[in-house]
Amino acid sequence: MRNFSIFFLVAAAAASTSAAERPDAAALYQQHCAQCHGADLRGGNASSMVDGVWNHGTGTGSYKRNIKHGLTHMGMPAYEATLSDREIDALAEYISTAEADAGAVRPPIPDQIQTREYVIDVDHWVMEGLEIPWAIDFLDADTALVTERPGRLRVIKDGVLAPEPVSGTPEVLNDGQGGLLDVAVDPEYPAEDWIYLSFSHELHDDPEEKFQPAMTKVVRGKIRDNAWVDEQVVFEADHDDYIKTRHHYGSRIVFDPEHNLYFSMGERGMQEHAQVLDRPNGKAHRLHRDGSIPEDNPFADTPDAVASIFSYGNRNIQGMAVHPETGAIWATEHGPMGGDELNVLRAGKNYGWPVITYGRNYNGQPVSDQVAAPGMEQPTYFWNPSTGVCGLDFCRGDEFPKWQNYLLAGSLRYEDVTLLTIADERVLHAETIVKNFGRVRDVVCGPGGIIYVVLNNPDVIVRLRNAGEREY
Ligand code: HEC
Repeated sequence: MRNFSIFFLVAAAAASTSAAERPDAAALYQQHCAQCHGADLRGGNASSMVDGVWNHGTGTGSYKRNIKHGLTHMGMPAYEATLSDREIDALAEYISTAEADAGAVRPPIPDQIQTREYVIDVDHWVMEGLEIPWAIDFLDADTALVTERPGRLRVIKDGVLAPEPVSGTPEVLNDGQGGLLDVAVDPEYPAEDWIYLSFSHELHDDPEEKFQPAMTKVVRGKIRDNAWVDEQVVFEADHDDYIKTRHHYGSRIVFDPEHNLYFSMGERGMQEHAQVLDRPNGKAHRLHRDGSIPEDNPFADTPDAVASIFSYGNRNIQGMAVHPETGAIWATEHGPMGGDELNVLRAGKNYGWPVITYGRNYNGQPVSDQVAAPGMEQPTYFWNPSTGVCGLDFCRGDEFPKWQNYLLAGSLRYEDVTLLTIADERVLHAETIVKNFGRVRDVVCGPGGIIYVVLNNPDVIVRLRNAGEREY
């Protein structure tokens, strides 16, 4: 009998070895997760896994990251040291399948939300006809321009999406994170009726190559009878600097009070380029609107430097806004895991990527052991865990008087809009005002101070309007 049980144990061990090829996720779940998330996955001490609501990113990629690295500030342990990657993968699949089996559907976008200071009507503004809308800007109170990442510029008039995109806009590389990115209306519109576009531009120099080099490019043009005309190049990188990666293009365009143009370019996945001045990637740039270089640019006279560089060491800026009173350029950039940043950009300053960062690589490995170094700027604020910051604007106008000059910061992964209370250049308070409507691609304080939120998945645009102050 004793021998038999030894045999049995060996057999069981062998079974669990072959099970190591396919971990028993249901058992792992009961052992490690059920006490918080519920034996039936419906929640308990922590959130339900089968209600269609994900606060920290939707999809198995996010679940894996959250299981492996935890959300320790909220009480979700990190399983990096306890479970193997294969076990974590199996758990993420298990959760995802259980959610599908439960028939979970994410709750619809609500008609009203509450914030600390206001009750807000959520106006379902453009609910169909858009594909990956990326950015919005306004010609006037009734007319908006919206980019779609696959390469179309759309017009919305009085809340109605014109069926035909603007014809003749530049060809874009619609691949990876690239495509048609930002749109910005000239600050002197309508006297100067230029429209600015940033996009990923692909070279076609070597037809033999599968992947052609690409880079962020900025042009301006005019819209006449729904056609893009009179195009001029505002910024095109030296073609030797183009890179074959398909991510980290940036890009946002803003104008300072003197009407200079600023745009961002991500480091294109080449971390070390962010630190060198003879490359355009990993930077914010400053130009006259016609593309010429302002004489007082910080590196205008530096030999070999790209003369349009305004700031450097910026990983991938996808939110930019100009402070309504100070005129300072504020920016949010995607960091590695735990290192999304809010910065105030200043001429010639180095924001540190990848030498200093609060984040880790997504595989958990450190990027750098330094969070601070002489000659490198500290972020004004950083997000840990990373929310996937995208879209940034200051509140102004009459709609939300208590929010004057507060910042609105969108996020892709956490699907939220955070309202940041700012005093001088410090963040005093952060409040999530929008949550789980969809991936926030852009958030803009539009004409009259009405807030527009451009979402992906679903690909819609909602407006936030003041429905009265909260009463306490
Ligand atoms: C000690 C309690 C605890 C245990 C054990 C635990 N979690 Fe969590 N988990 C949390 C808390 C708290 C949160 C944050 C919930 C929230 O957003 O309100 C969370 C969040 C999550 C999320 C993100 C949910 C979202 O809304 O995006 C996932 C995925 C997750 N847990 C998976 C797991 C898995 C898988 C296990 C087992 C390996 C596990 N958790 C074990 C407490 C726990």
